[in-house]
Amino acid sequence: MGIKMEKNCPMLYFVTIAVVFISNLQANSDIVYNSTDQSLIDYIAENAEIRYDVISNFVDKRKTFTSKITIKNTGNLTIAYNNWEIYFYAIRLVQPNEYPYKEGFKLHNCKMRLYHVAGSLCKLCPERNFRMESHDFVECKLVMKYWQSAKTDTMPNWYVWAEGLTSRDIESTQGDTLTFVGPFERPEQYQRYADDGWSPFTPESRFKKNDELAVSNVSEKLVIPTPVEMNMKSGSVKVDSSWTVVNSTKYYQVAKLIAEHFGLTIRSTKPQEKFIDITEQHDLNPLNVSTTVNEAYLIQISSQYITVSARAKAGMFYAYQTLKSIHQDGKSLPLCVIKDQPRFAYRGMHLDVGRNFFSKEEILKILETMAMYKLNQFHFHLTEDEGWRLEIPGIPELTEIGSRRCHDLNEDTCILPQLGSGSPKNGLGSGFYTTEDYMEILRYANDRNIQVIPEIDMPGHCRAGIKALEARYRKYMKIGNEVEANKYLLTDFADKTQYLTVQWFSDNAINICLNSTAVFIRHLITSLIEMHQDIQPLNIYHFGGDEVAGAWKESPECKKFLSKKGLNDTATLKRYFAHFMSNLTNDEELHMAVWADALKEGNALYNISAFPTNQNIIAYNWDNLWERGHGDKAYKLANAGYKVVLSHATHLYFDHPYEPNPEERGYYWATRFTDTRKTFGYIPDDIFYNADKSRDGHLLTKDQICPNNECLKLEKPENIIGIQGQVWTETIRTSQQLHEMMFPRMLALAERAWHKSEWEQIPDRGGSWKQIRSGLRFQKL
Ligand SMILES: *[C@@H]1O[C@H](CO)[C@@H](O)[C@H](O)[C@H]1NC(C)=O
Ligand SMILES: *[C@@H]1O[C@H](CO)[C@@H](O)[C@H](O)[C@H]1NC(C)=O
Ligand SMILES: *[C@@H]1O[C@H](CO)[C@@H](O)[C@H](O)[C@H]1NC(C)=O
Ligand SMILES: *[C@@H]1O[C@H](CO)[C@@H](O)[C@H](O)[C@H]1NC(C)=O
Ligand SMILES: *[C@@H]1O[C@H](CO)[C@@H](O)[C@H](O)[C@H]1NC(C)=O
Ligand SMILES: *[C@@H]1O[C@H](CO)[C@@H](O)[C@H](O)[C@H]1NC(C)=O
Ligand SMILES: *[C@@H]1O[C@H](CO)[C@@H](O)[C@H](O)[C@H]1NC(C)=O
Ligand SMILES: *[C@@H]1O[C@H](CO)[C@@H](O)[C@H](O)[C@H]1NC(C)=O
Ligand SMILES: *[C@@H]1O[C@H](CO)[C@@H](O)[C@H](O)[C@H]1NC(C)=O
Repeated sequence: MGIKMEKNCPMLYFVTIAVVFISNLQANSDIVYNSTDQSLIDYIAENAEIRYDVISNFVDKRKTFTSKITIKNTGNLTIAYNNWEIYFYAIRLVQPNEYPYKEGFKLHNCKMRLYHVAGSLCKLCPERNFRMESHDFVECKLVMKYWQSAKTDTMPNWYVWAEGLTSRDIESTQGDTLTFVGPFERPEQYQRYADDGWSPFTPESRFKKNDELAVSNVSEKLVIPTPVEMNMKSGSVKVDSSWTVVNSTKYYQVAKLIAEHFGLTIRSTKPQEKFIDITEQHDLNPLNVSTTVNEAYLIQISSQYITVSARAKAGMFYAYQTLKSIHQDGKSLPLCVIKDQPRFAYRGMHLDVGRNFFSKEEILKILETMAMYKLNQFHFHLTEDEGWRLEIPGIPELTEIGSRRCHDLNEDTCILPQLGSGSPKNGLGSGFYTTEDYMEILRYANDRNIQVIPEIDMPGHCRAGIKALEARYRKYMKIGNEVEANKYLLTDFADKTQYLTVQWFSDNAINICLNSTAVFIRHLITSLIEMHQDIQPLNIYHFGGDEVAGAWKESPECKKFLSKKGLNDTATLKRYFAHFMSNLTNDEELHMAVWADALKEGNALYNISAFPTNQNIIAYNWDNLWERGHGDKAYKLANAGYKVVLSHATHLYFDHPYEPNPEERGYYWATRFTDTRKTFGYIPDDIFYNADKSRDGHLLTKDQICPNNECLKLEKPENIIGIQGQVWTETIRTSQQLHEMMFPRMLALAERAWHKSEWEQIPDRGGSWKQIRSGLRFQKL
């Protein structure tokens, strides 16, 4: 289905002519021509100096922009036509006006032909008259969809390959510095279109922005997130080795943590003084929020003793975290009484390990940091078009093939390189967690009061899994085992539906009409339940459900399936799938979680009462794009009976840049930037109040923020269960980049997820509309 993948450039039709051409060239001994010789590939990898420049975003009002790829031959040989190909990544569709160019698109200016391979992967192939002398260069001018205002939209690690030879990454594009990407100095480069209101901040504009805050008068926070009540007394107490921790049968783990932190011993009886006591207390509920009473705690510090109270393990653990925070100089503790409780039961962090992989060690670090800031839900986005990251017992192909990216056009051994991963096997973008790794992550999270919510994204965003199981199919067909070949197949090979996702995939939706698909999903859920069961029983299963671009229309299997089920058309299949998942999760007594896209047809939400069995459905609402009239979606979902996690892309997407600067990392489709202050200033209890400027940097009108000037009222506030920060990792390849994108924004998230500040108590919105738009609230931070 979808785009045909060209194995070779079609010039092979001209074999005879080419041979004549080649033998002419052979006369000249310093011409690289021999396609069976690895030195051709090596020469290009070492000597082709690539440069990529955005020319202009101002060409045709938002539809397209122009850019160019320059290839310079820095060696002393001539590069001539042959069957070599240069692979590169484009997150914007190239030559969109000509698409689909199945036979490639001829770039007249550089005598090369351009192909879209899959997703971000494209290739350039020389035409027969291609010839580049030593120190000569060619310029390929491109038209691409939308705009490019950031350097990190360009991905590194381009590579060169020819049939029969070993691919090699082109040195001038290697690494993470993106030195081959030209500067974004002119407005038509760093702005999206001529009426874009954003320009990079200057030192002056940044100063002005910061000056509003009067930060000089803000005292350092002892504890983040801010506790409900901190009653500080004068004086402090030094907890030295003469102190002990009184053991607690029930909360032994916390006693141990506290003892370890202060370097104390644990004893079973209470001494006269100088002790830290752990006591269960049942009436703690300072915020009067029934869903978070188990996380509430009380700390009382006097010069004789310290008591730590909570009614459950979670609260005890958070008391320990707070003790660590206030033990700042490592010596003494301030005398105080701290009463605390979170506003939201769900305080989450989401991480996409599909686009790029992050090791188990990295995940543990993130969990440790989440625990420090009292975040309690880890939404683990384990699968994507670009990678399947969790070993599933019985289906080794998913990770043996689906977790690896390398240059194998058949995708028998790995899936195609994407997003700058380069061509070697097991390079960037490759990796997975074994079931043992996953269980270690679960144990680590569980010890820190963090629930792990695995997400296996379906039916869209599943290309890695689909391709892995197609490879599995071919493997078993080769040995004549048709039953095994079909067992978990997710593809109807006869489906001729043409579609293209927003990430330019044409084959990333599982076929939900196949029996084998249902068998596969059951197997997945059962496997996850088993991995979780002795550590942290699986409670929420997230099936993704976002951005299904359309498939199945021309699938014979779906036609059969529809008539068997008495269903009308393919449009009903998406809902059928949601109902099917509701049944599966119900059988296993799980909550079902989805990105909110999974719960609607067009703009109409599915009626929750029509879900056949499981109506415990958690909707993650990312889409609050004001200017599209989507600002009220969270309330629509909550009012319709879904439980909602606010995942708002305008404030809580930490893959977006910190500033509207082309040098900043990140995608910027939801908002031009999200700095820590913006996340900190997010008001979950009144979502419309968060609207400030559009993605273009223009003030929003009330009509945009609240369609028809009517701000939807939240009728079921209890259905907003919390907030979550999201990190997608298309542009994030290294651990350092991950940390830069996550921190400090995650601290701001934690603050809002736990603590409702005074400045969040907004008077009647009617009277303060102007205030919303001028962003006055920031002065109160
Ligand atoms: C190309 O190189 C291979 C091995 O390096 C050699 O065997 C072959 O004869 C060469 N072909 C041509 C056309 O020179
Ligand atoms: C071409 O460059 C290679 C390596 O850079 C060198 O070994 C060779 O001598 C050079 N040939 C000529 C003709 O300059
Ligand atoms: C600092 O803040 C305190 C309390 O909010 C206020 O009373 C005081 O006047 C402020 N000082 C200055 C210099 O602004
Ligand atoms: C503390 O209590 C736990 C649980 O009863 C017990 O396993 C542990 O040995 C005790 N530790 C000390 C040091 O008393
Ligand atoms: C606590 O909340 C309950 C309902 O959730 C309410 O009936 C009660 O009045 C509240 N108590 C206080 C002290 O606010
Ligand atoms: C799928 O399963 C149904 C019954 O569950 C059966 O009737 C049908 O033949 C199966 N189809 C295939 C292709 O195996
Ligand atoms: C099938 O769909 C068409 C148009 O979408 C509608 O007019 C028709 O009533 C539907 N039939 C059934 C049986 O639902
Ligand atoms: C879900 O389960 C209900 C009740 O068992 C059944 O009637 C319905 O057909 C099932 N729906 C799907 C989509 O599997
Ligand atoms: C949803 O379905 C239920 C039960 O069929 C019905 O009572 C209710 O009116 C429907 N709600 C909407 C908004 O259509």
